[in-house]
Amino acid sequence: MIRIINNCFALCTEHSAYVFRVNETGHPEHLHYGASLGWTADTPDGVIENDCAAMAEKRSFELGNTVVYSPEHKTVMLEDLRLEAASVGKGDLRDPFAVVRYADGSTTSDFVFEKAELLKGAKAPLEGLPSSHAAEGEAEQLLVILKDAASGVALELTYTVYEAFDVICRSSRIVNGSGSDVDVLRLMSAQVDFSEDGFELTSFHGAWTREMEKETVPVKHALVVNSSVCGASSNRSNPFVMLHRPQTCESFGEVWAFNLIYSGNHYESAGVNAYGKTRFLNGINPQGFSFRLAPGEAFQAPEAVMCWSDRGFSGMSQCLHGFVRKHITPDEWQGLSRPVLLNSWEASYFDISESKLLRLARAAQGAGIELFVVDDGWFGRRDDDTSSLGDWFVNKKKFPSGLKAFGEKLKAMGLQFGIWIEPEMISVDSELYRAHPDWSMEIPGRAHSEGRNQRILDMANPAVPEYIGSTLAALLKDTGVNYIKWDMNRVFSDVFSQHLPAERQGETAHRYMLGVYRLFDILTKALPGVLFEGCASGGNRFDLGILCYCPQIWGSDNTDALCRARIQEGYSYGYPLNCVSAHVSSVPNHQTLRETPLATRFNVACFGSFGYELNLADLPQAELAKMKEQVELYKKWRDVLQNGDFYRLECGSTHKWICVSKDKRRAVGMLMRELAEANTQYEDFKAAGLDPDLTYRFYSVAEKQDIRQFGDLVNTVSPVHIKQNSLAHNLIARFVKLDGEAECAELSGSALMGSGIRLLPSYGGTGFNDRTRCFPDFASRLYYIEAI
Ligand code: DGJ
Repeated sequence: MIRIINNCFALCTEHSAYVFRVNETGHPEHLHYGASLGWTADTPDGVIENDCAAMAEKRSFELGNTVVYSPEHKTVMLEDLRLEAASVGKGDLRDPFAVVRYADGSTTSDFVFEKAELLKGAKAPLEGLPSSHAAEGEAEQLLVILKDAASGVALELTYTVYEAFDVICRSSRIVNGSGSDVDVLRLMSAQVDFSEDGFELTSFHGAWTREMEKETVPVKHALVVNSSVCGASSNRSNPFVMLHRPQTCESFGEVWAFNLIYSGNHYESAGVNAYGKTRFLNGINPQGFSFRLAPGEAFQAPEAVMCWSDRGFSGMSQCLHGFVRKHITPDEWQGLSRPVLLNSWEASYFDISESKLLRLARAAQGAGIELFVVDDGWFGRRDDDTSSLGDWFVNKKKFPSGLKAFGEKLKAMGLQFGIWIEPEMISVDSELYRAHPDWSMEIPGRAHSEGRNQRILDMANPAVPEYIGSTLAALLKDTGVNYIKWDMNRVFSDVFSQHLPAERQGETAHRYMLGVYRLFDILTKALPGVLFEGCASGGNRFDLGILCYCPQIWGSDNTDALCRARIQEGYSYGYPLNCVSAHVSSVPNHQTLRETPLATRFNVACFGSFGYELNLADLPQAELAKMKEQVELYKKWRDVLQNGDFYRLECGSTHKWICVSKDKRRAVGMLMRELAEANTQYEDFKAAGLDPDLTYRFYSVAEKQDIRQFGDLVNTVSPVHIKQNSLAHNLIARFVKLDGEAECAELSGSALMGSGIRLLPSYGGTGFNDRTRCFPDFASRLYYIEAI
C-alpha cells in the first residue's frame, strides 16, 4: 500500500513501513523504515500526518560548527537530517547519494521536491537494465521528482512496493535539464538513514572456489564499505548485504537486507555520523565512474532491493526467496522443473570430441540424466585456454558432422542438448581479434595485464553485442540447443573503450554492463524456451541482474561437498537455492583432493539445481547404479527441492537444511556433519515451514553401502564393541531386511518444529548396535517428511 497525504509518503508492506515527508526546505526527510506502524487503507489521513510529525526531526537551535541550510532555515542542518537522497555542498558531510559536476566545474547540488505521482499499470522495465517485474496489480509504484533549481537538473526517485514479500525496490535517474553538458560522478540506487547507531553489517566475501563466506562487522563512524571493482558483481564481495542488530539471529531480531539488480561494479556503505545516525547506501561503484549527459539526456541507476524482517535472518531469507522467484526469475521459468544434467567439464576438460562425448552421453542416459552439456572446447581451435574466444564456429576436427548432428544424436538418446559459451571474451589468438583488435578492452600503446590468457570484448561499443549476438543466435538456433551455460572468466584490467572519447572513459565499465544486458536480450529473445545458466569462473557474477535472464547460476567451481555446503548456505541468505547450480563430481575432489561419500555429494547438490560433472563412462558399475538410484530419488522429490521453501536450520560445523513443498505436505531435510567427534552422539532434527496441524511421517534411508562399510569399519577398529553388542553382520542384515530404512517416526508438524525429533545416536566410541547411526567425517543424511 502507498499513501500520499499532503507532504507525507507512506509505503507499507505486510509487516513493514517505509515513511518520509517533504520538510520545510523541500527536502525529502526519511522518517522510518522498519516495523509496520499499523496503518491501513482505512487509517484516517490525520492519524498518519500526526504520526509523521511526531517522527520528524526537531531542532530549535543552530548546532555549533555546522552549516545551516539557509538564513531563513537556521535549524535545518543537512548534516544531521535523515534524507532520502543526499547530495554534496549544502552541509551534508556524509557519504552522498548523488554527485553531479556542472559545466562550471562545481559539484554542489540541492535537490528539492518538485512533484510526486503514483505510477499505474504493469511495472515498466528500466532503460537498458534488468529490473524486478510486476504485472498490473502485483506491486504499487511511486515516482518522486526532485530538482536542483540553480541548474535545472532533476533527480527522480522511484519506489516499488511488493507488499506480500516485505520488499521495497528503489531506483533513481538523473535528467539533465540544464543547458550544458553535466557529468554524473555518482548516483546511488538506495539510501536509508536511520535515527540510531548500534548496527552490524553482514556481507559475503571470498575468491574463486571460496564464494560467499559470511562476515559480520560493527557499523561505527569509520565507513564500512562492501564493493567490487572487478567489472563484475564479484566473488570478492557479493552485492547482497544485511544490516542488523548485534542480537539478531536466525529466528529472531530485526534485519534490513539490501541487494542490487546489477552485475557490474557495485558499492554498499554504512557509517554513523557525528550525531549517532546511521546511513546506508548502495548503487554503482563511484570509483572510476563518471557519465556525461548532454542537455535533455538521462542516466538511469540500477534498481535496489530492500527487505525488512523482525523474524531474524530466516524470516528475511523467506521474503527474499519468494520475491526472487516471483519478481526476478523470468516468467517462463517460474515453477518449472529444471533438468538433471551432466556437464563435460570435470569429466574431460578440453579433451573432448564427438565420440568421447557420445560415450559419456550414453552413460548419462543410462543413469536417467536428462540434459547433456558440452562445456568449453567445442569451437575454433580451442584445445586449451590460450585461443579462439570470439571464434564461434564449431571445431570440425572434434565434431566432424557438426553440432546440429551431434545434438540430434543426443536427442535420439532422449537427452536434451546444452552448450557452453563465453560470449564476452576475446583471445588474442583468434580470428576475431585479428579482424577487430579495436573490439578488445585494452589501452593502445600500453602493455596489457592478462588473465586466463584472454581479453574482454568492449561491450561498451554497441557494434560488439550486436555482432556476437547475431553470430551466436544464428549458430545456436540452427543446432537446436535446449540449454546455454554463459561463462565469464576474467576480472577487469586496463579498463578502456576504444570506441569512447577521452571524456567518456569513466562510462566504460557501466556501458560494458549495458552491452552485456543487450547481448542477454538478443540471445534470450532469439532462443525462446532455452534455459540459460549464468557462470563467471563459478560465482564471480552471482547477482540479481544475471538472475533476471538466467534462472540459475553455477555457484562455484568448487564441487567438494563440504565446501559446497558452506557456499550454498552463504547464497541462501539472499537467493533461493534453486538459483544455485550444484553438481556431484568425482573423488578425490578436483579442487580440494578431499574424499567425501557419494551420498553426501548427492545430499548437498540436490538442494540446488542438480546435476553431475564427472566421467560417468568409466565409473564402476556399482557406483553408476548408485547414481541411477540418486537420479530416480531426485526426480521423485524434485518439485519439493526445486520449488519448495528452503530454510537453514543450523549452520556451522553441522549443516541442517529443509525444503518444504508449497502445500506443506512434503519436505526434504538434510543433516551433514563436517567432522565427527567421539561421544557427541545426540542430535535433533527440528523442522521449519511445516503445517503445525498436520501429522507427518519422518524417515531416513541409510545407505546400504554405508551400513556395510560402517560394520566393517567398526569391526576392524573395535572388535570388542562388536562382540559386546550385536554382530555387525546381523546389523547389516537387519537394515537390509528393513529395506534400508534406518529411522522412522510419526509426529505432528508442531512437534517436529517445536521440539524436533531426537535422532538415533551416532557412533560415539563405545557402543555399537542396531540403534547406532553411522556418521563419520562428512557423513550426511536426507530426511523425508510426508503428511499422512
Ligand atoms: C569456468 C567455469 O566456472 C567452469 O565450470 C568451466 O565452464 C570453465 N570455465 C571452462 O573454461
